[in-house]
Amino acid sequence: MKSPRLRLPIEGMDLRVFPDAPSLSRAAAGEFVSCATEAIQRRGRFDVALAGGSTPRSVYSLLAARHSNDLEWDKVHLFFGDERHVPPDDAGSNFRMVRESLLAAPAIRATVHRIEAERDAATAADRYEATLRRHFQVSPPAQPRFDLVLLGMGADGHTASLFPGTSALAEMSRAVVANAVPQLNTDRITLTFPVLNNAARVIFLVAGGDKAAMLRCALRGDPAGAHYPVQAVRPASGTLTWMIDAAAAAGLD
Ligand code: 6PG
Repeated sequence: MKSPRLRLPIEGMDLRVFPDAPSLSRAAAGEFVSCATEAIQRRGRFDVALAGGSTPRSVYSLLAARHSNDLEWDKVHLFFGDERHVPPDDAGSNFRMVRESLLAAPAIRATVHRIEAERDAATAADRYEATLRRHFQVSPPAQPRFDLVLLGMGADGHTASLFPGTSALAEMSRAVVANAVPQLNTDRITLTFPVLNNAARVIFLVAGGDKAAMLRCALRGDPAGAHYPVQAVRPASGTLTWMIDAAAAAGLD
């Protein structure tokens, strides 16, 4: 695996810069496999929350194309960090994106825990909360603890469906909520900060020059003093890794 061009120790987090998106995706696929292998060896299964959007799609396709025989996929449980409020066959569905990329390989017989986003958003969130709590065998105030959470970052500083100025940012007890996102004129279903920050490992995947300005604010602070949802992702007893390409890193010293 190609080593990252640059590692910056920033406030206890691991920042890895890759020359381009393909090398970032290859490295992220490798991290996924090593996380999964370790979890399966240690506890007999691997529980991962997948990121939505476009950046991770190539990681999922690489896992299907090059790593379908590298894991005991029947011990892998795939969850979603968020979902758009659309049916599973909708072009905007994160589940559909994962089905068309990661699950395209027949050998990948992971267990998929889909957010039932075809339902009313609040009902979908309630049912996913129950699914998580049943799977992880935890009741409030305890939170599910993922072995790995993959996240992306929007140019506005959102992650999962935790958008600036939305009510889900304030959720401190539920693991999953429906979140009205006026910026998009839609509802979303999203994991909340308590469950994201209870993960054993969080990896942000960020690529593209359109993210450079926000990444600088997220990692160095906004000169105007604003704060962004991505900055609130700090695993309390886990590791945080930013895997970014050179274009997204352009704003960093
Ligand atoms: C989603 C994601 C979202 C995504 C960012 C970045 O459902 O869209 O959860 O948080 O990670 O918007 O998206 P891109 O990778 O497409 O830039």
